[in-house]
Amino acid sequence: MKKISIIGGITADIEGTPYNRLIHGDSNPGKITLSYGGVGRNITENLARMGANVGFVSVAGDDFPGRGALRELKELGVNVEHVKLLPEENTAVYMSILNIVGDMELALCNMDVLERISNTFIDEVAEDIGDSAIIGIDTNLTAETLADTADKLSGIPLFLDPVSVTKAERAKNIIGRFHTIKPNRMEAEVLSGIRITSEEELEKAGQWFLSEGVERVFISLGAGGVYFTDRTDSGILRPKPVKVVSATGAGDAFSAAVLYGFVQGLSVKETALYGMAAAAVTLESKTSVNSMMSQEKLKAYLSE
Ligand SMILES: Nc1ncnc2c1ncn2[C@@H]1O[C@H](COP(=O)(O)OP(=O)(O)OP(=O)(O)O)[C@@H](O)[C@H]1O
Ligand SMILES: [Mg+2]
Repeated sequence: MKKISIIGGITADIEGTPYNRLIHGDSNPGKITLSYGGVGRNITENLARMGANVGFVSVAGDDFPGRGALRELKELGVNVEHVKLLPEENTAVYMSILNIVGDMELALCNMDVLERISNTFIDEVAEDIGDSAIIGIDTNLTAETLADTADKLSGIPLFLDPVSVTKAERAKNIIGRFHTIKPNRMEAEVLSGIRITSEEELEKAGQWFLSEGVERVFISLGAGGVYFTDRTDSGILRPKPVKVVSATGAGDAFSAAVLYGFVQGLSVKETALYGMAAAAVTLESKTSVNSMMSQEKLKAYLSE
């Protein structure tokens, strides 16, 4: 089976929701959930659950969340040879406190360790991942490492998930180096400098990415579905009605399906449909990756 490699972030996510109105400066009883995150890690977990041959390149602290994340991926069959646990670092953590209606009141994050996915680290792994059919990269890498990685691995199709509006900036100057990209609408605006508020503007942004050298573009539109384009086909697909339990991670599952669709030789439109199926499976679950994700689930959704 063709190999897919992912380079990107691992985080531990801690989310607290108070049972009653939040009182600042006090200890509030509430519900606390712990989970693993990081776009690269989420894409990797989805790919493993889909049955892909996937390897992950990342760093975390040699602490309990780092060791736990590594163990879980290993158990799912991911090649974790290049996931480094660094004794002197802490695993990246995103910690948020919501209010009783579920909106975020306060968050604290520390992503410093992700800078250790450095040029030197990429040098160490470049040969090993050089036989991948496609390499997925997230913008948890610094702008410098992203550019350097795109240079070093330029012979292989590269995929980009821009993670967030802020982190998308890091890939702005090198976007043409990617074979395939999956920004959401706002990330696509940052990357292209084109405001996207209509179907015409979506088309314009899509064409701009192609003119920069990108071969396949998927701009995800949340509840609006997805816009896809390559040199032969383009269009917008709207999602079937779904019960949304949680929208977090739908984009990451979409990205995973885009990577898997590529190694299966799917067309751009087939890939978009596959991506929407993966997103729909994820919307059904509270967690950012649905532990029920599987090829069977995707097939069932696509044949409905
Ligand atoms: N509320 C929704 N209803 C139906 N489908 C949705 C909804 N939200 C997301 N989707 C599906 O998930 C896909 C990806 O979602 P979205 O555009 O929100 O990605 P994203 O912003 O990258 O998300 P993430 O938080 O995972 O990074 C969409 O193309 C769509 O198919
Ligand atoms: Mg996303």
